[in-house]
Amino acid sequence: MREYLEVAVEAAKLGGEVLKQYYGQVKEIEYKGEINLVTNVDKRSEKLIVELLNSRFPKHSVLAEEGTDMAGSSEYKWVIDPLDGTTNYAHDYPLFCVSIGLEKKGEIVAAAVYQPIFEELFVAEKGAGAYLNGRRIHVSRVGNLKQGLLSTGFPYDVLENPGQAMKDFRYFVDSAQAVRRDGSAALDLCYVAMGRFDGFWEARLKPWDTAAGILIVTEAGGRVTDFQGGYYSIYRDEVVASNGLLHDSICEVLRRARQ
Ligand code: IPD
Ligand code: CA
Ligand code: CA
Repeated sequence: MREYLEVAVEAAKLGGEVLKQYYGQVKEIEYKGEINLVTNVDKRSEKLIVELLNSRFPKHSVLAEEGTDMAGSSEYKWVIDPLDGTTNYAHDYPLFCVSIGLEKKGEIVAAAVYQPIFEELFVAEKGAGAYLNGRRIHVSRVGNLKQGLLSTGFPYDVLENPGQAMKDFRYFVDSAQAVRRDGSAALDLCYVAMGRFDGFWEARLKPWDTAAGILIVTEAGGRVTDFQGGYYSIYRDEVVASNGLLHDSICEVLRRARQ
């Protein structure tokens, strides 16, 4: 497993260097939807990461946001977001990262998230804890929602379906100390893991947004479920991540917002 994590880190840093290199420069922007962007940098980062993983583990499957979907012959699958936080990146807002998770038989076993501007590298291995730049990290100890700093994001179809997302946001603004919308789900999860945030929820994320982050949260002592407090898989629609102490309260607010 150590070898897998080392290569995940190498790949995340390789992609991260690309993001850093083009940061602050004019990017080629294409639109996947009215507010859903992709840049030449997302694609370049994905290409280099996939080439590296392929060369080291030719039998592994690879799923990445910008089009890579390769079925290998082994039980391992790399799930990659080559640039999480593209809208931020396109605006030179420095919250974005590379996110790489390794799935084995449906379970995430290794994870690396790299934020190249602040040079923050989050890693986790199943059963071996979570680390930020080599130091063990833990979730926060905040036990009262009114003292909790929460984070969320809005799906790209928020303009067509604003209703529930806005209602959830409103309910949490009322219930928590404050709510942030930073624009990178993978970083949101890492920030829960290291205690900057006390909780996070979001609907309609994709496997590459959460694959790495959920292992980093659980290995840091946090909890990850769906909105009802049940099992979360990266192929499911709704995720709640928290320090554990606030988890039931967060699910309860989501339940009230649906009554
Ligand atoms: C997005 C970010 C954002 C979240 C969106 C994601 P992208 O990923 O994680 O925080 O709210 O739902 O799609 O498109 O920047 O890789
Ligand atoms: Ca993403
Ligand atoms: Ca992305």
